[in-house]
Amino acid sequence: MENITIKKIGVLTSGGDAPGMNAAIRAVVRAGFYYNLEVFGIYRGYEGMINNDIRKMDSRSIAHVLERGGTFLKSARSEEFKTPEGRKKAYDNLKSNGIDALVVIGGDGSLTGAHLFYKEYGIPAVGLPGTIDNDLFGTDLTIGFDTACNTAIQAIDKIRDTATSHDRLFFIEVMGRDAGFIAINAGIGSAAAAILIPEKKMPVEMLLERLKNREKAKKESNIVIVAEGGKSGGATEIAEKVRKILPTYDIKVTILGHLQRGGAPSAFDRTLASKLGVSAVEGLLHGKYDVMVGVINNKIVFTPIKRAIVDDKKVDEDELRIANILST
Ligand code: F6P
Repeated sequence: MENITIKKIGVLTSGGDAPGMNAAIRAVVRAGFYYNLEVFGIYRGYEGMINNDIRKMDSRSIAHVLERGGTFLKSARSEEFKTPEGRKKAYDNLKSNGIDALVVIGGDGSLTGAHLFYKEYGIPAVGLPGTIDNDLFGTDLTIGFDTACNTAIQAIDKIRDTATSHDRLFFIEVMGRDAGFIAINAGIGSAAAAILIPEKKMPVEMLLERLKNREKAKKESNIVIVAEGGKSGGATEIAEKVRKILPTYDIKVTILGHLQRGGAPSAFDRTLASKLGVSAVEGLLHGKYDVMVGVINNKIVFTPIKRAIVDDKKVDEDELRIANILST
């Protein structure tokens, strides 16, 4: 599609919120003003596009949002946008507001929406990888992942105190949907006895052997990190299996859940979100449509959204090897 003249852009956050989304919105709005664009905030993701919950942003709209968790534009997972009728309503509302292009901040579902919309209506869109899961191809790290790992590690440290006091074995479940990135990082960073991720199955026998070896080595506590999306079940199911085989172990389960999504973004996430937000606007102005902007080896990279959502982001084999060395 040929380049169009862009004067008004819309920005939205969609899917699960992630720390750093506010910093990303702020960067989009500020960059928009810098390049003399009008910027519109679209509330509750695609739902706001369908319901015309669209408001013009000014510099006050983004005051003191950089340091806040969540997303002040709010977020939603829109079922209606998955239907052609929903997307038609959304398109009509964009046109009535005169919006020429979009910046979509979210995970793979959100970027899929932007891609479809571009294909159907030719609305140029740049996606920003905003998800704690870090499961998007085309960027080394996603906005929110670093903060979520820090939050998880802080929580696990606290559990470690009580686990050690009582000589207990804890199974701690972390988020990540179908991906083990949070589990690997939180596991390495909290000296986990084992890390169970969906991408690499660890047989129960191997886990039991690991625990026995640690018992011989007189380890005072054991923390096993379980990624939520594993085929053998989450922390509760795995703990149940182990409890049956090792009845003398004092086993507890903690599911960290949504606390991993909240909190002020880390310095890293603020910086990443800010760089990507500005680059997204510049990308649109340079005719980069239907792409996701990410950072690879410290360089800004634009990847077709289709690849970002379809191609698999692989877990780092080296990290897994290191995790294994450290946990035995
Ligand atoms: O994609 C982010 C995420 O937090 C996943 O890690 C998790 O599986 C999912 O969202 C939870 O979604 P919801 O908040 O809709 O329950």
